[in-house]
Amino acid sequence: MNAVDPADASRASAGASPAPTEPVPPTKPVPPTKPVPPTEPVPPTEAVTPLIRGIAVLQRLTEAGGTLSLSGLERATGLARSTVDRITLTLGRMGYVRLDGRDAVLAPRLMELGNAYLAALRLPALLGGHADALADELDESVSLAVTDRDGIRFIHQATRRRAMSLSFRIGDLLPAERTAPGPLFATEWTEADWQRWRARRAADPHDHAFPAVPPREHPSADADFERRTARAAANGWASDDQLIEPGLVAVSVPVRDPRSGRIACVANVVSHTSRHTAADLRDTLLERLRAAVSRMEDDLRTAPPPEPARAPSALAAWTGASKQRLGREFVESLARGLTVLTAFGEGRSALTLTDVAKATGLARATARRALITYAHLGLVTPGDDPRTFTLTPRVLSLGFPPLSRTTLPEIATPHLAELSARVHESASLAVLTDSGSGPEIQYTARVGTTRVMSVNITVGTRLPAYATSLGRVMLADAPPPPPALGTPPPPAPRTVTDPQTLTRLLARIRTQGYALTDEELEEGLRSIAVPVRDRTGHAVAAVNVAMHAARRTVEECVRDILPELRRTADRIEADLSVAGRFTRVPPS
Ligand code: PHB
Repeated sequence: MNAVDPADASRASAGASPAPTEPVPPTKPVPPTKPVPPTEPVPPTEAVTPLIRGIAVLQRLTEAGGTLSLSGLERATGLARSTVDRITLTLGRMGYVRLDGRDAVLAPRLMELGNAYLAALRLPALLGGHADALADELDESVSLAVTDRDGIRFIHQATRRRAMSLSFRIGDLLPAERTAPGPLFATEWTEADWQRWRARRAADPHDHAFPAVPPREHPSADADFERRTARAAANGWASDDQLIEPGLVAVSVPVRDPRSGRIACVANVVSHTSRHTAADLRDTLLERLRAAVSRMEDDLRTAPPPEPARAPSALAAWTGASKQRLGREFVESLARGLTVLTAFGEGRSALTLTDVAKATGLARATARRALITYAHLGLVTPGDDPRTFTLTPRVLSLGFPPLSRTTLPEIATPHLAELSARVHESASLAVLTDSGSGPEIQYTARVGTTRVMSVNITVGTRLPAYATSLGRVMLADAPPPPPALGTPPPPAPRTVTDPQTLTRLLARIRTQGYALTDEELEEGLRSIAVPVRDRTGHAVAAVNVAMHAARRTVEECVRDILPELRRTADRIEADLSVAGRFTRVPPS
């Protein structure tokens, strides 16, 4: 362990009480107390109350893991039921929340708010690839974190965690003192930052305000963190020896902004004591982490200025639509306020009031009040140029952590349910797999009650890809020549098995954009499918409607079902595009 240089120590703790040089006696366990909620500052008079309430609803839903009953929301927010109803209805109309029976559920579209912050920040886009490569090189998890007041928040995760320990999500907030990046960020804290940190620790000694970490059983001494901060300043790295939970260890190095020299984010290598002790992690992996960080800093130095993204035109949707269509209960001021966050993005990180008004189409006065509200809530802060506003990492508290784990079947299911309800047939999602004996489809989501096949299709069922409409649309998307066709299924009288015919068929499917199987897999079964594409245009899955052949002719199927099916695929793709911008959406 390196000795502490007092000069570094006092520099590091920047006005805090000098770091002690003697060992700190172990702290006595303190009996758990009820958390003392920090007193909420009074909102400025110009703040938009419905916006404050809407944000509270989103934050309570996020803390609850993404789902809360409406009465649970009423309790968690302290709002009247009628207010909760109006807010959830408005968020529902915006596609940010879904109402599922009595539950409000966060919807993937909400990730566009966190995406606006991450795109404006640019670090995930510039450094994420380096973090992923390092995780591959070391075969350990690598993460990037930014400072969020006296906490740290993850902006990128390349997770390799095998077992037994927590795995943090993008947007999770951790108390700085229980992490490896914390002391590095604290080297830049002002006296006011240290005071805020001490006040928080006194008010919440068990970290109840940080739902992502297990509550602290034995509060630590403030001096521990002050000493770790001093060491971080002297060493240029910091570690976490099981501060969050037993077994979890991390070593961290700051990534500095080439212009200001300040810490832009911290890169962490995270492991488990079954593979590395904290000391061993530092001895064996710190140098490679440092090398990766220096590559990251090179990229920050040489990155061309961002291409300003096109400002979104989402607002028109709310102002243009009549109150009648949106519903009497629609809270326009909430919808307008939320639109302000989407004005930010790549190349649009610091916006003036005029920029925001222009981007959103809002009146200046409306945009101004929304920005005042966000500043009050800690979601925006003045930029380097004090006439500008920037988003803070806290924007990620609006749904990002639970939504960043959404899978494609979870994205698709509500859309399949809508489709199935409209066409009164069952609808499914499937992916392409290969078990070794040729391409197969595997059902990953399914909605509907009618059973038209003799085989009972459930999630997990596999079928030969080339005999199904679902399989064919995905095979048709694969770059030519099409993959091996695999073993034929038990053929029904009309099963196409001739490879040349199938190749021609796939070419046609590729041009027409859908596949229709007519009693091929099974007599009496007709199925029509379209691909589901990711942001890059690759068909990652397919959706279909399957029906009894007696219910509709082939022509009726194309005329009536195909447009509905396409609309469903479009909605799934829109959600997938938002959800997949900064996270990987598991296809199954
Ligand atoms: C993580 O990325 O999971 C992580 C990073 C730093 C820590 C703990 C966990 O100190």
